[in-house]
Amino acid sequence: EKGTYPHYMLKEIDEQPLVVRKIIQKYQNDNGILTIDSDILNAVNDADRIYIVAAGTSYHAGLVGSQMIEKLAKVPVEVHVASEFNYNMPILSAKPLFIFISQSGETADSRAVLVQVKELGYPTLTVTNVPGSTLSREADYTLLLHAGPEIAVASTKAYTAQIAVLAIFASVLAESKGYSLEFDLVKELGIVAAAMEVLCDTKEEIESIARDFLSTTRNCFFIGRTMDYYVGLEGALKLKEISYIQAEGFAGGELKHGTIALIENGTPVIAISTQEHVDLSIRGNVKEVVARGANPCIISMKGLDTEEDTFVVPQVHELLTPLVSVIPLQLIAYYAALHRDCDVDKPRNLAKSVTVE
Ligand code: F6R
Repeated sequence: EKGTYPHYMLKEIDEQPLVVRKIIQKYQNDNGILTIDSDILNAVNDADRIYIVAAGTSYHAGLVGSQMIEKLAKVPVEVHVASEFNYNMPILSAKPLFIFISQSGETADSRAVLVQVKELGYPTLTVTNVPGSTLSREADYTLLLHAGPEIAVASTKAYTAQIAVLAIFASVLAESKGYSLEFDLVKELGIVAAAMEVLCDTKEEIESIARDFLSTTRNCFFIGRTMDYYVGLEGALKLKEISYIQAEGFAGGELKHGTIALIENGTPVIAISTQEHVDLSIRGNVKEVVARGANPCIISMKGLDTEEDTFVVPQVHELLTPLVSVIPLQLIAYYAALHRDCDVDKPRNLAKSVTVE
């Protein structure tokens, strides 16, 4: 039930801090240590490469997860769009393991890949919100999101739940390989949950940002580098699917290779900067678009913020920034859709789970 909320999407955005806290709890053992089923760890430790297969928002969460797994556990990861992998399977490593990320656990494109790779005899793990779903039943192993039912068509809390679960998976895997983490993930996820709460209380500010940048525009670009690029892809998908504004996410460095031709006077460009090593580069990209007349909206993180920034998210661990930087983007999409009188929870042409290929 959406209770006093006008839309499920807003309710689900607000549930994100709780969901992160619940995930921490669900993955802790009696001693408060984060754990993953040892059968899953053994299967992953037997593999030489992880293939993440997913669609839409879950694909975007997979991109973030791949970075966490590579950085912490040092296992190579490839991330594939299910509908492409299905018809164009890459040459696989000698010992692949497949991770299917799917909120619903019912996405036909992902299932088609699962059927193919099971036939080839490879181990499979589904990360899903729905116990007993098709992908969960058919894969060898399951990790649950514990996000509670997601009703709005636009995925919000499932995305952050996927990232939180993948962070736990990456850190436990790293420790099982003998790498000691330089941080305490339980503590860092607690900091994330608190930061998410702060962000959920900035709705008025975000509403006015949505009004300033998006009330009349026909398009909008999102730029970022590394983690922020992946979050930009998600911000663009959220915006286009519920507000019908044409939105695209780009890697900051790719701008000059074509997209910059689309920048006109007043074109909104939302730049995300939470990664210290690319902060100067992305700010350089902002200057390039501003010189062509763009209307820049810079979303940065405390510690990297400057006076030119439009919105600053609280500081969290550099691998966990997507969990917080996505919240203003979800809210921007929500308010842009609201201002344009769009059906927020049930956008045109879309279904909650896509059960046809
Ligand atoms: C976007 C959205 C879709 C889904 C995609 C995959 O907000 O909801 O892009 O993420 O259809 O769905 P699942 O995760 O159920 O496999």
